[in-house]
Amino acid sequence: MKANQIDVVLGLQWGDEGKGKIVDVLSPDYKIVARFQGGPNAGHSLVFDGTAFVLHTVPSGIFRDDTLNVIGNGVVIDPVILLEEIEKIEARGVNVDGRLLISKRANLILPTHRALDAASESAMGKAKIGSTLKGIGPTYTDKAGRTGLRVGDILLPDFKDRYLARKERHLRILSQYDGFKVDIDEYEKLWLEAIEKLKRFEFIDSEIYINHALDEGVPVLAEGAQGTLLDIDFGTYPYVTSSNTMSAGVCTGLGLAPSRIGHVYGIFKAYCTRVGSGPFPTELFDEDGEQLRQKGHEFGATTGRPRRTGWLDMVALKYSVMMNGVTDLIMMKSDILDDFDTIKVAVAYKKDGKLIKDFPYDGGADIEPVYREFPGWKTSLRGLQRYNDFPREFKDYIEFIEEVTDCRIKIVSVGPDRVSTVVR
Ligand code: IMO
Ligand code: MG
Repeated sequence: MKANQIDVVLGLQWGDEGKGKIVDVLSPDYKIVARFQGGPNAGHSLVFDGTAFVLHTVPSGIFRDDTLNVIGNGVVIDPVILLEEIEKIEARGVNVDGRLLISKRANLILPTHRALDAASESAMGKAKIGSTLKGIGPTYTDKAGRTGLRVGDILLPDFKDRYLARKERHLRILSQYDGFKVDIDEYEKLWLEAIEKLKRFEFIDSEIYINHALDEGVPVLAEGAQGTLLDIDFGTYPYVTSSNTMSAGVCTGLGLAPSRIGHVYGIFKAYCTRVGSGPFPTELFDEDGEQLRQKGHEFGATTGRPRRTGWLDMVALKYSVMMNGVTDLIMMKSDILDDFDTIKVAVAYKKDGKLIKDFPYDGGADIEPVYREFPGWKTSLRGLQRYNDFPREFKDYIEFIEEVTDCRIKIVSVGPDRVSTVVR
């Protein structure tokens, strides 16, 4: 932690790296945890006291009593999903009053944004993005098009009229999708109720709030959603999400100057997964891939979809480390590799006989990975508490990644629970 700077936790792959668990583990050191982008497309799983909890919009500091949680301006909010989440958190006996602050500048996901997401995906057929259907793309489209509705607008006397004007415009667009049936009435009712209920929370100028907190030396942690390879500018476009998922997104998504960024904790899994469409150079279609999926429980926390699985990709990981200015690496789910005789890692790509060492503009479509093989450790990592207790083969794997990325792996996770975390 550096004085007056915000630390950042973010994903280096295609999301689902385990950001929720790590924020939860790190949050006792911080007074404020803030989300800076994305929305309910995220599914951040936390496991504690033997049970799991999935967060979508609420920052993962909510289960630590002394932590304040801020939803920043860069986030898009679906009030229905947010309210449901809050009710579930309260059902666990957690008090959220005064502990959840929402930026007035955050954009709202409307019921028609969800319909537009669905209509666009179904019209694209095979070329679909494979979005989470939460309305993320259409909401950020309206934000960039300067036609969005923001949280602060909820308190305006003509909020309802503003809402209806957007809805009418969206319905006109939706009518152009052949055969798409728009059915938002039920959701709209819930949405309008949720808008009213949201008023119990404080809507803040989060940029001012967080800058002042940092000035006063309050430790703040930014929690990323999705992952670097899903970044709108640098991910595997167009198969990406609609926000800047990288450390640069912290500046715009919370209103902080670049000099305010302190530690950047980059999280990656010891292998790779992806949900939805798009290039995935090291994807496996064999038994190894199935083993990763089953043992790693690689099914979407938000959508339940089976995740695509594959080996670790150093070309992509090096790119992500560079683009984020990662200061510390965090490796997750190492224990899922426990049973493999041989573990492969892509160290380069090959296309038309040429070697490619830098992450390509198209995200590696039509390339062959060049693998380096590592002998498996063939023993359970679960329960190990110290780096020195790790088997030699596993240490070799870790040290290889450190050498290639020129970055230290500070935390190694060997199981889903809070306590299965080895800090070096
Ligand atoms: P967390 O925070 C994994 C993927 C979707 C789709 C693409 C675009 O849990 O890591 P969107 O709904 O954002 O328009 O979908 O991005 N995607 C995620 N994949 N984890 C996530 O979040 C994701 N959020 C979006 O599957 O391919
Ligand atoms: Mg997820």
